[in-house]
Amino acid sequence: MEGSVSSRLVKVFAGVAIAFTATVLMHVRDPSDVLLDSGYGYPELWRKTGLAGAPARAAACILAGAVLLAAGWLYRLLFAPLELLRSPDEVGYVAEDGRSRARAANEVRRRRKTGELPPVYPNGWYRILDSHMLERGDVKSVTVLGEQVAVFRGQDGKAYVLDAYCPHLGANLAVGGRVMGNCIECPFHGWQFRGEDGKCVRIPYAEKVPEFAKVRCWPSCEINEQILVWFHCDGEEPGWMVPEQKEITNEEWVYRGRTEHFINAHIEEIPENAADIAHLAHLHTPGIVSGVDLRYTNSKTWEFIRHDWKVEWNPEPEPNKHCSQMLVKHALTVFGRHWPLLDVNVVARQVGPGVVFLLFNHNFLGRGVILHCVTPVEPLLQCVSHTIFYQSNIPPLVPKFILRAECIQFERDVMIWNNKKYVSKPLLVKEDSAIQKHRRWYSQFYSENSPRLRFQHDTLDF
Ligand code: FES
Ligand SMILES: [Fe+2]
Repeated sequence: MEGSVSSRLVKVFAGVAIAFTATVLMHVRDPSDVLLDSGYGYPELWRKTGLAGAPARAAACILAGAVLLAAGWLYRLLFAPLELLRSPDEVGYVAEDGRSRARAANEVRRRRKTGELPPVYPNGWYRILDSHMLERGDVKSVTVLGEQVAVFRGQDGKAYVLDAYCPHLGANLAVGGRVMGNCIECPFHGWQFRGEDGKCVRIPYAEKVPEFAKVRCWPSCEINEQILVWFHCDGEEPGWMVPEQKEITNEEWVYRGRTEHFINAHIEEIPENAADIAHLAHLHTPGIVSGVDLRYTNSKTWEFIRHDWKVEWNPEPEPNKHCSQMLVKHALTVFGRHWPLLDVNVVARQVGPGVVFLLFNHNFLGRGVILHCVTPVEPLLQCVSHTIFYQSNIPPLVPKFILRAECIQFERDVMIWNNKKYVSKPLLVKEDSAIQKHRRWYSQFYSENSPRLRFQHDTLDF
């Protein structure tokens, strides 16, 4: 519904701009026109200003173009969702001495001391796509937990996740494969695999389909406008589910944008941030206007704006021991003066190892949620997405600003994560105690057979 309102607005803007251009051009004729000599053919104003003829036409075109651009910009600012998709080397690396960012990122990866790492793929639910990225009949190739999977939406509207490599001769089902009903057809020899269980149901040139012909089918679910897969190193069934955010399902809260980052770190480092209370007062205190590059965030220019944080982190009791909560009270001070109207309270509810609901509830800025999802791509490479859904009757600019502000604070953490090593026995003081508590809580997502890092990939060769 939101989409149709937006596209209607685009059409209105485009229509106005085109009508404007057409009107101007209709009134500006070629100077060779015989009517010109008789003094007719141009509006009075154009003749008086001497803008008749080709220069006037060019000016009109430039003006119309500018109107069109301004209308597009204004529309995007006011109505379109904010989409900030960062490439893997874009944020959090220092590219000094004329090096490119890609080179800086590769060098950091190559030289990194990994430390004594916990297992790399915790058991749990991981987001792989947002629902709107997969239309009926679409197939997408996704890398998750070091595996290649084919995600497709059958004609029944359900999303299915299968291992991407065909067991026949290894073609990638997601690259050129076609959705046929609720099955996917391999692009190489046309074998068809059922989305529901991965079983081969048709071999176009064979009389019989062997019983054992199948690909691995990943347990998946679609909730809160996201498609998620379940991973358990021993193949166990899901022990808990990602809760539904009712306001998203009933469209009371609507999509207002998303960000995507790739982080060069072990997955556990990212949620651990919530229990690392001391870093907030140091890393996240400078105003967001001072940017994301930690070499400059403490510059004197912007020190008159500060964010103050009060945070508490606690695991939830049974039956939700796979959940934890971080309660955040944020206050803004400008020139030492507190602005209570801008106080924001956020509940960050972590559900399992890879999904966090950041719930906003503000007196006049409204209510909404940022879904913060961490999905391992490789052992030390995490894809992190923030997707915001917000009250539909609040101007989109508000949630877009919230997402942008969150993104700035998050990118400061990215600079730390991308360059740090994992310390298995950290040197902590009493005030850091929540970090150990968090590590104990998070260890429930590892089991004896959880995969560990055996060798390290050198470069960011995407
Ligand atoms: S490789 Fe898939 S059908 Fe042959
Ligand atoms: Fe942080």
